[in-house]
Amino acid sequence: MSSYKLSVLSSLIFFAAVAISCNHSEKKSDKIEIRVEQLLEKMTLDDKIGQMTQVDPGFAGGDEQLKKSVRDGRYGSILNLWGVEKVNEMQKIAIEESRLGIPLLIGRDVIHGYRTIFPIPLGMAASWNPEIVKKAFRISAIECSSQGIKWTFAPMIDITWDPRWGRIAEGCGEDPYLASTLSKAMVEGIQGDNLTDPTAVAACAKHFAGYGFSEGGRDYNTTYISEPVLRNVVLKPFKAAKDAGALTFMSGFNDLNGVPATGNEFTLRQILRKEWGFQGMVVSDWSSISEMISHGFCANEKEAAYKALTAGVDMEMSSFTYAGNLKTLLKEGKIDQKLVDDAVRNILRVKFKLGLFENPYVNPEAQKQVLNPEFLDHARTVARESAVLLKNKNKTLPLSPKIHSVAVIGPLADSPRDQLGTWVFDGKAENSVTPLTALKELLGADKVNYIKGLQYSRDKNKSEFAKTVALAKQSDAIVYFGGEEWILSGEGQCRGEINMPGAQDELIEALASTGKPLVVVIMAGRPLAIGNLLAKADAVLYGWHGGSMAGPALADLIFGKESPSGKLPVTFVKGSGQIPFYYYHNNTGRPASAKNWTPMDSIPVVNPQTSLGYKSFQLDYGFTPLLPFGFGLSYTTFNYSDLKLSAMSMSTTGSIEIKANVANSGDMDADEIVQLYIRDRVGSITRPVKELKGYKRVTIKQGKNVEIIFRLEAKDLEFFNGKANVIEPGEFDVWIGPNSAEGLHGEFTIH
Ligand code: GLC
Repeated sequence: MSSYKLSVLSSLIFFAAVAISCNHSEKKSDKIEIRVEQLLEKMTLDDKIGQMTQVDPGFAGGDEQLKKSVRDGRYGSILNLWGVEKVNEMQKIAIEESRLGIPLLIGRDVIHGYRTIFPIPLGMAASWNPEIVKKAFRISAIECSSQGIKWTFAPMIDITWDPRWGRIAEGCGEDPYLASTLSKAMVEGIQGDNLTDPTAVAACAKHFAGYGFSEGGRDYNTTYISEPVLRNVVLKPFKAAKDAGALTFMSGFNDLNGVPATGNEFTLRQILRKEWGFQGMVVSDWSSISEMISHGFCANEKEAAYKALTAGVDMEMSSFTYAGNLKTLLKEGKIDQKLVDDAVRNILRVKFKLGLFENPYVNPEAQKQVLNPEFLDHARTVARESAVLLKNKNKTLPLSPKIHSVAVIGPLADSPRDQLGTWVFDGKAENSVTPLTALKELLGADKVNYIKGLQYSRDKNKSEFAKTVALAKQSDAIVYFGGEEWILSGEGQCRGEINMPGAQDELIEALASTGKPLVVVIMAGRPLAIGNLLAKADAVLYGWHGGSMAGPALADLIFGKESPSGKLPVTFVKGSGQIPFYYYHNNTGRPASAKNWTPMDSIPVVNPQTSLGYKSFQLDYGFTPLLPFGFGLSYTTFNYSDLKLSAMSMSTTGSIEIKANVANSGDMDADEIVQLYIRDRVGSITRPVKELKGYKRVTIKQGKNVEIIFRLEAKDLEFFNGKANVIEPGEFDVWIGPNSAEGLHGEFTIH
């Protein structure tokens, strides 16, 4: 057969296969729709309202009452129930003793690991590595599903510009593009390739929408977000989650422009359902429906139930306004039966997609996988790639493994619970390997001189300082482990100042005065204002709360098994007074620059009535952050050269290639995260001074160089201008570089 005929035949076979597979998945979803309708037919109103109610066992009136309620079909889901026996027992009641045998959906917060704990999501975001993040969430799903959990309230993908907000720890930082790539990876990791696989877990994109903009960085606070910022920034990672197939969304606590997210028809119906075509299920946040009374948006629980259901919340988490009021609302004709039926359809669809009707029970064998060495090893890899090298004066790092003695100091050097970070329900401190343990293992205990210096991160008691400094003086180098206890970030744990807590800055200063090489390793749940220690230390490594294997990962980096490769997923400010500070800010009519701002200390004592610059800056903090978004150093050096564009212009439907050379001119193989930024110089609304539009993590061997190629489509430059999504002709800047503050510059136009 001629090669031509062969190629025609193979393409015919290919297209037939595609058609069959699409057909197959369409057939599958049609089958599910039929099953949903058939089941809905049999359901009474009580059955339906039961499916729309999720309960925490702690609020169910005791174990026997919970079992009776499940038998009576009063709950469609239980959160915070786990363990093979307990889940199977409850599931058995639902299936064998209730009228319709509808399986329960068991939910839990598995935010960055179940028993194998990975770095906090903000730390994972610093890896800029969707592949390892996806695997981390897959491992989390394997572990939690082995305990009967089939729904996790993750990923949390709230963009925020405010490091005072405790929940910055749980998200992917400030950038919509980076957060979107990670949101996709997390959803795919959680749900896996086959939703009916026993290890598949329903993802839950949260908190829809705008919660990260809580005013003052104070949790649950009011949010005012313009529609351009909502659509161009906040919603991007949620759209990525929806496109990745997230089965559920969670509405937020926040009041969004005067309408609580949990009663917000614009976000929940107009955007999520109508514009995006979301077919999954929306759950409220914990009692966020009844909290609309406190918001002053509803007069009572009946109105709260009405507004939440009308807006599009299908299932109520841990409050009972639906159970208590939907019947009355229907009887009074205030709501249509269709609203209830559609909500139940969305809930049943998720249960059918997960295969819960066929496989509702947990196989006890599955839990043997928990904490297996491969999982822990991956946690070590993720913690390593999440760490960001912020300073390395005179190549202080890596330390030589042949070193005679190392002073290991600080409140987080041996704090197994703190290093796990916030939102850890099931991870155990006993499974953490701390830096102290790891360093003793690596060097031999006799080489490690350990003293805390401060008992915990907020400790102000300096009585151990003298002893600590003396020990440091006897050692060849000092490695200080500090930052924040885990309890200082997470839900409801916001801070007004974001400096190093306690007397840590003073201790670091005392250690610096010894003249010994001083390495400072920070474990924290947010970007801290670390200007003081950044000036004093010889090297600074930001490890976030790095999870179960933070110790070995940090030891690997400190002693050069691998070079740090992480990059900041969030701007580091000089102090709270600079907040909000995000790299993709607008230019303003009076942008400051190096030549036109006035540092406070330079102001003469006597001044005529004048202004000190008429530009947008602060006298004390200036106009640049402490460290820019995307920043991160390496043990080697990377040189960028030869920026080239495939064309100087493209149409609104076109694309161009942008490439550059990156050379590793140092003496160590290492990863570099190469970043692509653009600027739209003029728009129908003011546009950011920079926007991340691509990145590639690449391994470059010492002495070698690689060509990095980005393909930029005109549609990647689309934005919402307050009226419509537009791609506007005009002039653009483009950069390829190591972070948001530097890079090779080029320009192009859209015609
Ligand atoms: C919390 C959080 C939410 C979490 C839920 C269940 O208050 O806001 O993120 O999933 O309640 O624990």
